[in-house]
Amino acid sequence: MTAGGGVRGESFSQKTVWEWMAALERLPNVYVATKLPPDLKAELERHARPRYWDEPLKIPRERLLREIGDAEGLIVPGGLPVDRELLAAAPRLRAVSTVSVGYNHFDLAAMRERGVVGTHTPHVLDDTVADLVLALMLAAPRRIPELDAMVKAGLWGKDGVPEEQIFGMDVHHAVLGIVGLGRIGEAIARRAVHGFSMTLLYHNRSRNAAAEEKYGARYCALDELLRASDFVVLMMPLTPDTAGFFGKEHFEKMKPTAFFINASRGGVVREADLVAALREGRIRGAGLDVYECEPVSPDNPLLKMPNVVTLPHIGSATAKTRHAMAALAVRNLTAVLRGVPGAHIVRELADLA
Ligand code: 8YV
Repeated sequence: MTAGGGVRGESFSQKTVWEWMAALERLPNVYVATKLPPDLKAELERHARPRYWDEPLKIPRERLLREIGDAEGLIVPGGLPVDRELLAAAPRLRAVSTVSVGYNHFDLAAMRERGVVGTHTPHVLDDTVADLVLALMLAAPRRIPELDAMVKAGLWGKDGVPEEQIFGMDVHHAVLGIVGLGRIGEAIARRAVHGFSMTLLYHNRSRNAAAEEKYGARYCALDELLRASDFVVLMMPLTPDTAGFFGKEHFEKMKPTAFFINASRGGVVREADLVAALREGRIRGAGLDVYECEPVSPDNPLLKMPNVVTLPHIGSATAKTRHAMAALAVRNLTAVLRGVPGAHIVRELADLA
């Protein structure tokens, strides 16, 4: 075995078959409940004995529960519930690594009770998610999907459609209010301030001195931010404290010309209040990547509104970034299982490692 517990790189003749088997015995069993590319499988196999869910569709719950009986480590896609039922089905489990930065699908209390460490993938997706937020901030006020549909329907230049009917709203030099200015918020700020000459307001639990200095961000109370912003961008994790946080009383304070953008978690917003605000014209429009319930129901009224741009939770979904997230998830899991430092353990369970 190498110091790190791996078995590759040693010539077969150096060990008897029995020594090899004994060495392999000591590698932890891991179940991978999401597709991994070949290079990351090879990396994982240096430190673990993995089994894989290799199908394009999500693993059915019953199948997952059957597969993890001897798993000491588990890699899951974002959103897959890691709850009491799952933990009971995997009595040897020591670590769960999610391929996502958000970990609202972890039952943290249950994991703590069973001493199961959870890891996530911060940093590597910040710029990709920020790009998507900017895309929503452009698409909604400039009406990109609506006008794309109009052109493709052959309606461009048809008699009787006055040009003013397709006017949008400016993005450059607008006031951007970010609620939750963390790492991704800063990446949004960089684009908005340096690229689009926007003025930046933010509201956080604590002040972000670096962002104030770099982007001229001004800290303000939530009410002030809502009243002054042309774009309100929500960037809050979903936790028991933030669930259903943003609703009617907030939309009421926004400008009637403002846009609401959410690419963090739908559960932070009372969606019925958002629908009402849009229906009653209390805000101009919205750009959404996330919903209270995902995948979003085809009956959701938001899908019928031309002033709402809807995406299927694709904030981090580029090939390069998803690969970087999966690579980090593999590194996180193997680090925890080998007892070496460097894993991105979720804050609430950091003391378990
Ligand atoms: C995930 C996300 O890709 O990282 C997160 O928290 O929301 C996205 O990047 C999503 O969970 C889908 O798997």
